[in-house]
Amino acid sequence: MEKLNVPKFRAMKAGGRKIVMLTAYDYTMARLLDTAGVDGLLVGDSLAMVVQGHQTTLPVTLEQMIYHASMVARGVQRALVVADMPFLSYQLGIRDAIANAGRVLKETGCHAVKLEGGADQAEVIAALVRAGIPVMAHLGVMPQSVLQSGGYSVQRDASRLVADAKAVEQAGAFAVVLECIAADTAAQITKQVSIPTIGIGAGSHCDGQIQVLHDLLGLTVGKVPKHSKCYADLKSLAIAAVTRYCEEVRSGAFPTEEQSFK
Ligand code: KIV
Repeated sequence: MEKLNVPKFRAMKAGGRKIVMLTAYDYTMARLLDTAGVDGLLVGDSLAMVVQGHQTTLPVTLEQMIYHASMVARGVQRALVVADMPFLSYQLGIRDAIANAGRVLKETGCHAVKLEGGADQAEVIAALVRAGIPVMAHLGVMPQSVLQSGGYSVQRDASRLVADAKAVEQAGAFAVVLECIAADTAAQITKQVSIPTIGIGAGSHCDGQIQVLHDLLGLTVGKVPKHSKCYADLKSLAIAAVTRYCEEVRSGAFPTEEQSFK
């Protein structure tokens, strides 16, 4: 089995192989997604919203990210595992950023970290890379800045986005997530940088795609973003299964002798 790492990930762009990523937050799902052949798993700070039930990604802590990232890393044999650096774990200065990202790698078994920002984070990215910490950058909609930006609207400022992508490439990032960026701008970025672009709501010309697992499997509670596609309705299946279990326990139909011990 081909075990993926950062150089192989970069080589996929050069070889014209599309990169498939999904978010994951626990061991069981990580095993399933790895078995299905996903190339990369992101322990996204979206866990604040889809796992913890918060309104934004801001509340999740470094300790919680480490806890979930270690579960995901234990479930994987082939995929590259990237862990998000949560809000305020890298914005307070380079020393803090290295210490926190170093903890993520040392304590979880993940292969890389991701952080939000472009030219404004180039110094932090370069310092992490110098310390031996692979960094995936993140441009476009940056959910950690939602209080400042006021929402998650599509980003169309092509010259700024291209400049940011070049800045993170120059700083040593091995890949860059492009979130909710107009498709032609994402295509332009993808052409102009040598590192893989991983799109989410950024059209089909990116080098790879990432989606939030809960959107893909129909587990999301509430509104699903326009850029996602539901490949299974696990929410309905789970509710139907548990409804049946409730009925059978209440009627005495479960457990039977088959589930009992002599
Ligand atoms: O936290 C997350 O899940 C992400 C993806 C949306 C790329 O950053």
